[in-house]
Amino acid sequence: MGWRSVFRSNLFEAKVAIVSGGGTGIGLAITRELLELGCHVVICSRDQRKLDAAIAGLAPPLRAKASGRACNVRDEAACMEFVEHVVREKGKVDFLVNCAGGQFVAPAESLSSKGFKAVVETNLVGTWHMCRAAFVKSMEAHGGAIVNITMVTENGIPKMAHSSAARAGVTNLSRTLATEWAPAGVRINCVAPGIIYTKSGFANYGPMGQVLMEAVAPAMPFKRLGTAEEVSAATVFLLSEGASYSSGSTVYVDGGTSLVGYPYPMADTGSVCNFPVYGDESELPPAAICRAKL
Ligand code: ADE
Repeated sequence: MGWRSVFRSNLFEAKVAIVSGGGTGIGLAITRELLELGCHVVICSRDQRKLDAAIAGLAPPLRAKASGRACNVRDEAACMEFVEHVVREKGKVDFLVNCAGGQFVAPAESLSSKGFKAVVETNLVGTWHMCRAAFVKSMEAHGGAIVNITMVTENGIPKMAHSSAARAGVTNLSRTLATEWAPAGVRINCVAPGIIYTKSGFANYGPMGQVLMEAVAPAMPFKRLGTAEEVSAATVFLLSEGASYSSGSTVYVDGGTSLVGYPYPMADTGSVCNFPVYGDESELPPAAICRAKL
């Protein structure tokens, strides 16, 4: 049997959704599931050809309710124009899923200000642009639901200072919007994926991808990476009436990994963090005394 949503097939009949970053990876999985559930979906990314290819790859019955239009989420005016276009074409926006984003692996000390700002501009500021555009151009009048795709940031994310800062910002932005926009009937929640295997994501990670699969995954409680469909199912739940009393929350889709911390291998620099000079030296672990005194 082929892939099927766990949700009722006509759950989102007559609903209209925008999925930023909906042409690849997790965004595409969310797009496919929303279409399966009867939703009209308009996807955006910067590259029209990628959007066209994603739509061409959908099964014909799903393709009928899908469309794509280029929009750079870093550009506020472009986001406003994009949402206006959707409202003109489809009449309204019921759902917004902010999945556009990305990052690159870089040790903090070699991360330029330009690179840091670029990731924050896309992941945090871009999410803000899309939320505000969807609210003022449509949801303010009739309510709606927004899901922002973030990451598990509580323990930090080594070599992703830009992205972990941006995603933590999105989490708090979502909580604030949840309070401000509740009277308009707009709910805003986040889905925080752990390490999810997608071809497009792993193509970006380079050698780090191998480390994630071979060293990090076996040390997780579930001992495997997640799938895009597992992130999609949580997103659909938060968009649905099933989550009608949830706003400002974050659902973790991480196989329990946030409970034990991410077991990222730390670089061995050959040095150790020194023990403090104060305190009783006889209370220190013997091996540590030796190393600290090297
Ligand atoms: N995906 C990655 N970066 C993006 C951007 N700036 N706008 C839209 N989609 C994106």
